[in-house]
Amino acid sequence: MEKNSSVENNKKTWSGRFNEPVSQLVQRYTASISFDKRLAEYDIQGSIAHAQMLSAKKIISNEDLIAIEQGLNQIYDEIQNDQFVWLLELEDVHLNIEKRLTALVGDAGKRLHTARSRNDQVATDVRLYLRASIDAIIRLIKAMQLALLNLSGQHTNTVMPGFTHLQVAQPVSFGHHLMAYFEMLKRDVDRLTDCRKRVNKLPLGAAALAGSSYPIDREMVAQKLGFDGICENSLDAVSDRDFAIEFCACAALIMTHLSRFSEELILWMNPAFGFIDLADRFCTGSSIMPQKKNPDVPELVRGKTGRINGHLVALLTLMKAQPLAYNKDNQEDKEPLFDTVDTLIDTLIIYTDMMSGIRVNLEAMRSSAMKGYATATDLADYLTKKGLPFRDAHEVVAKTVQYAENKNCDLSELDLSELQKFSVQIDQDVFALLTLDGSMKSRDHIGGTSPAQVNAAIERGRKWLAD
Ligand code: ARG
Repeated sequence: MEKNSSVENNKKTWSGRFNEPVSQLVQRYTASISFDKRLAEYDIQGSIAHAQMLSAKKIISNEDLIAIEQGLNQIYDEIQNDQFVWLLELEDVHLNIEKRLTALVGDAGKRLHTARSRNDQVATDVRLYLRASIDAIIRLIKAMQLALLNLSGQHTNTVMPGFTHLQVAQPVSFGHHLMAYFEMLKRDVDRLTDCRKRVNKLPLGAAALAGSSYPIDREMVAQKLGFDGICENSLDAVSDRDFAIEFCACAALIMTHLSRFSEELILWMNPAFGFIDLADRFCTGSSIMPQKKNPDVPELVRGKTGRINGHLVALLTLMKAQPLAYNKDNQEDKEPLFDTVDTLIDTLIIYTDMMSGIRVNLEAMRSSAMKGYATATDLADYLTKKGLPFRDAHEVVAKTVQYAENKNCDLSELDLSELQKFSVQIDQDVFALLTLDGSMKSRDHIGGTSPAQVNAAIERGRKWLAD
């Protein structure tokens, strides 16, 4: 098979007016082929749609269109089968494909670039790539949400200490705690869905920056490529990367949520908590300490959040001082963006799998909640309901806790007579509230931790996922 292994006379597509070639280093420095070749499939899609429009508008002939389509389809196969030879001398994915097309189909290949520039071409490719990535990421988030719903459903009665300031605050169910992450991820899906609207606009037709003198039909191209509309200003179309920045912001928030979750998994796995155990496949041992089982995966999720945040800042910084319109700076948008997508996809897949490998230590969770006077607020609320102003009730309970602490027991372990020393309004019915389960059950309104409410939240979650 004929291969595109050398460039005709070693000349650049754009070098007509140049007297000397660029140095090897400059060639390497300015090339993007090592990373933008992954846009090839979108570049080909975009080119086919562009060529179809050119032919429909009689800007190129139908024969040229047929040749271009055949050539691009062959190139697509070559790339899929790893037979395509990418050349650094050809700088980027666009010129590599165009050169190969010309080698395959002759002059028709040279006509493909009519009414187009690499500036609108690359912006189109990145948007197509990002749209597909967003769709894949949304699917993966939803898979993780389903895993969360399933795990939550098993633990609506599993008592654990809810913390504020990482100190025992009030009892919550493990299911309720997990459902907090379901909510965060729901907002993440909403954000991505919203971001997708702005990603899904067509830049093609802006050409280099000012539009084209040919009678192009941008709407036709948009429709062929599944865009919801077109970028309405040619300068803006080739220049701004706000859609990619916005995506990176969404990604940073998703990673931040998963990083917080990771931090909790790491703490919970520490024997001092002992709340959970992660399946061995997400952990590693130590080469020196034989007893160790380290939660490497959550640690790395927490660590990788740093690089995702970094990519967001990189793109913001890339954009901030660029005059209109396209500048080569924008070539630097790709690596942070690709790495953000790759990292996020891997993280979500691993995380979903990790959810099914969580073993819960019910006893450890319960006894930790028992240790921290988690039902103190319930006692204060009880007294308040009997007529004591809340601040006074707070004071009474603080004294009661102090007493129990000295006795080294829980509030629920005090006798009624002992409790009544602090307030005569305390009756036998208090014990229903002083237990962890009673406290949890009493928070029975939408958003509360009672098993009934968490089950309802899980039901709503399932409906939302099915929509
Ligand atoms: N590789 C370039 C990029 O990623 C493609 C656009 C080049 N345009 C140009 N005028 N040199 O931005």
